[in-house]
Amino acid sequence: MKKWHIATLVLFACFISTALAQNTLEIYANAGEHRISKNIYGHFAEHLGRCIYDGIWVGPDSDIPNVNGYRKDVLEALQALQIPVLRWPGGCFADTYHWMDGIGPTEKRPKIKNVFWGGVIEDNSFGTHEFLNLCELLGAAPYISANVGSGTVEEMVNWIVYMTSDEDVPMANLRRQNGREKPWDVKFIGIGNESWGCGGEMTPEHYADLMKTFSSYARLYGRNLTRVGCGANSEDYNWTNVMMDKAARHMDALSVHYYTIAGESWSNKSSATDFGEELYFRGIQHGLRMEELVSRHSAIMDQHDSRQRLGLYVDEWGIWTDVEPGTNPGFLFQQNSLRDALIAATTLDIFNKHCDRVRMANIAQTVNVLQAMILTQGDKMVRTPTYHVFNMYKGHKDALMLPSHLSAPDYRFNGDRIPAISSSASLSDDGSMTVTLSNADPNNSVSLHVIFMGKSIDKIQDAQVLTAPAVNSINSFEKPDTVVPKVLDAVKKSSNNSLQIDVPAKSVVALKVK
Ligand code: AHR
Repeated sequence: MKKWHIATLVLFACFISTALAQNTLEIYANAGEHRISKNIYGHFAEHLGRCIYDGIWVGPDSDIPNVNGYRKDVLEALQALQIPVLRWPGGCFADTYHWMDGIGPTEKRPKIKNVFWGGVIEDNSFGTHEFLNLCELLGAAPYISANVGSGTVEEMVNWIVYMTSDEDVPMANLRRQNGREKPWDVKFIGIGNESWGCGGEMTPEHYADLMKTFSSYARLYGRNLTRVGCGANSEDYNWTNVMMDKAARHMDALSVHYYTIAGESWSNKSSATDFGEELYFRGIQHGLRMEELVSRHSAIMDQHDSRQRLGLYVDEWGIWTDVEPGTNPGFLFQQNSLRDALIAATTLDIFNKHCDRVRMANIAQTVNVLQAMILTQGDKMVRTPTYHVFNMYKGHKDALMLPSHLSAPDYRFNGDRIPAISSSASLSDDGSMTVTLSNADPNNSVSLHVIFMGKSIDKIQDAQVLTAPAVNSINSFEKPDTVVPKVLDAVKKSSNNSLQIDVPAKSVVALKVK
């Protein structure tokens, strides 16, 4: 047989075997080593736009139904989400915030200008008591961002004592005088925010020195606090390296911030709803950069901290689009689409897989700002597609991460490609396994064989899918249920340790299997 005939046959055989090859997700069900901290499912609420005022806090005299000033509808929706940790009061706002402005009788609290966000007047009616009581109502651990940019060590220490001391000392007594006898259970303190930018425009060397001073006093006065060093802006690996080199001993975690921009640049971020496949593809692709970012920041941390004492906290992340037309540009109010749900799902899968080092993440922000869980308008409230993803992913919280290997097609667009399928898997203490999958391809479903290596399965306890007619479908105040989870039928047990599932185009899937 001529040589070219043989070559053709080999090529043909390869083509056939590729065409017939199954898409598979192999889950190593007995190989879990690291827990997925529930704090990966954390949130962030800043004094920015309508996040706190209007979104969470309307005050006790409002016509909007409220519980001691907290919007009842939002409170209940957040309680249902079981948010593990809430970061406050910023963001950039934190480095302008003087906590004593927000305690004592509301009518006596001074008004300040919110210089970062719209220049609006802040009346400080939501302060330390209102935040920490909210955390108690939510069952969330408070994560306080201390003011390093324009504050002092003394101011931070007084705040720590005010919140956490049960002794007979002036700051704890001031708290008692303001109506709170017991200290609150504050768990986390951030030493500044974006100190390379809005938090003081510092070099990493300067910040590392300053952080050591703030942090050592935070430890003296708040023995149980987890101290979070301000981390890098996206791919600023030098920042992480300097912080780890100069100051690792003085912090318990180091943060990093990364926002997804679908458009070309910060000045051209693009609309939250008015986009075609190009911006859809770029949005998902840019979201997936989180994999490289957490891998590389973790690798640098590993060089200085091989025993992984410090956590990497991604304490701001999410998609950042243009604001909704006609809204205050300083309020960062954006709609939230099925695309954003897919970005949330793929990002959470990345965090789950890096849970050995990534031990907290806080999506920005909780209500009415950036990639919000909830949007409000007057007395109306809507749960966004991203809210539903967080709900669907609940099974991963504090579960054992199960390593996996995926073999599945790419989503191709205009000569470029990204993986169509994202996934993560975990094993809960009750023996059930959670598998989350998403298919970014808006045009093709993916048939996937999911194999639980080393474990037999009894039944599929729950199968949900989140999808919608279009990638830019949203939940509006008029139609709040366009993008909501439904029961997924296209999944069945195919053997004693495997499932066959059709992951619909542009969808997020969550399975619970036992
Ligand atoms: O989340 C909005 C802003 O983004 C925060 O205030 C700041 O930390 C970041 O730049």
